[in-house]
Amino acid sequence: MLKGKKIVVGITGSIAAYKIPFLVRLLVKEGAEVRVIMTPASKDFVTPLTLSTLSQHSVIADPFRADNGEWNNHVELGQWADAMIFAPVTANTLGKMAHGIADNFVVTAYLSAKCPVFIAPAMDLDMYAHPSTQNNINILKSFGNQIIEPQVGELASGLSGPGRMEEPEAILHLLADHFRSGLDLNHTKVIVTAGPTNEKIDPVRYIGNYSTGKMGFCIAEEAARRGAEVLLIAGPTHLVTYHPGITRMNVESAADMHAACIREAPAADMVIMAAAVADYTYAGQSPVKLKKGPGELTLKLEPTADILKELGTNKKENQLLIGFALETDHELENAKNKLVSKNLDFIVLNSLQDHGAGFGLETNKISIINRSGTVHQGTLNTKPAVAAEIIDFIVKNRT
Ligand code: CTP
Repeated sequence: MLKGKKIVVGITGSIAAYKIPFLVRLLVKEGAEVRVIMTPASKDFVTPLTLSTLSQHSVIADPFRADNGEWNNHVELGQWADAMIFAPVTANTLGKMAHGIADNFVVTAYLSAKCPVFIAPAMDLDMYAHPSTQNNINILKSFGNQIIEPQVGELASGLSGPGRMEEPEAILHLLADHFRSGLDLNHTKVIVTAGPTNEKIDPVRYIGNYSTGKMGFCIAEEAARRGAEVLLIAGPTHLVTYHPGITRMNVESAADMHAACIREAPAADMVIMAAAVADYTYAGQSPVKLKKGPGELTLKLEPTADILKELGTNKKENQLLIGFALETDHELENAKNKLVSKNLDFIVLNSLQDHGAGFGLETNKISIINRSGTVHQGTLNTKPAVAAEIIDFIVKNRT
């Protein structure tokens, strides 16, 4: 897949730079043509000599050539490349890329890119979690760049958490997948539901659940990145979307979500029900605030419509229906039963017994099961990476 592809590798000043010679070696071995560009700080972590030897081309680290003072042409490089991969990228460079601060050759080359751009951040977990870093990442995503999410693990500081740059082999696979599949959901209409539903009791109270919507939002972003036209039907959440290929529809209750799904599903090629829809609602909704009384308060709840089941019953030919199952015991057995009883094509299983998986976390761990019983067992990963894993499995196993 990478044979003859022209790849620019941009390195910035993080300890993870020590992994890049290996990435360059892997790319060259696959037949790619590689040009390495570096920030001045990155030269403290890995030498240009190592990289020029491995890439078989001289490395550019300065805007001007030291021998004759000539300009190093970042515009030409931007037009030459089939893909640019920036790895590792520090919090500092993320900020510069997000805001167009072109004070070194790496950022000028980034700003000149005419090709898909991959960015692999690497930093300590607190720097990574800082709203400033997250904001810059979101800005870069909104420009259409692909963020290679850092992995969860032990960091150079000795702390443990998200921030570790993705391994060179995984970056290589990602690039190969990009050239293989590219926009593999082009011309596909995908509905994704996400978040909780709120069932009103009175104007100031509701029955809700702990879902934040993060997993569903990541799936919507991933599907859009791969070319899908996405309708995101979202329950109450503060999350925002970035990709221009996503249309968002906000709903509040299970009944609202039901109405939206039933109305929109016939036009969709794929429906992914990641929302945590309430199973019961309060039918005696009061238009005024309930006053406390002397005794107990009993609220009678009524079942909501099972949206997924209804979509399964009315599924069009060639439409794919994907459900989620959140289980605490007999996980696989329960998930397989749901797959069959709701006429699904795939079911994504979340087990609350898995450490690092569940509501409100940045990470998740899932399994996916298809109709023939194939089980894909995922590993603990960031939610965007899990979203890519889910879409990959669906795309590879759809019939
Ligand atoms: N779901 C739905 N409509 C509902 C409730 C849930 O479409 N009223 C969907 C969810 O979006 C999810 C799937 O059903 O994709 C699984 O929800 P879950 O609550 O785990 O399963 P249930 O079938 O409701 O079974 P149980 O609560 O007994 O586990």
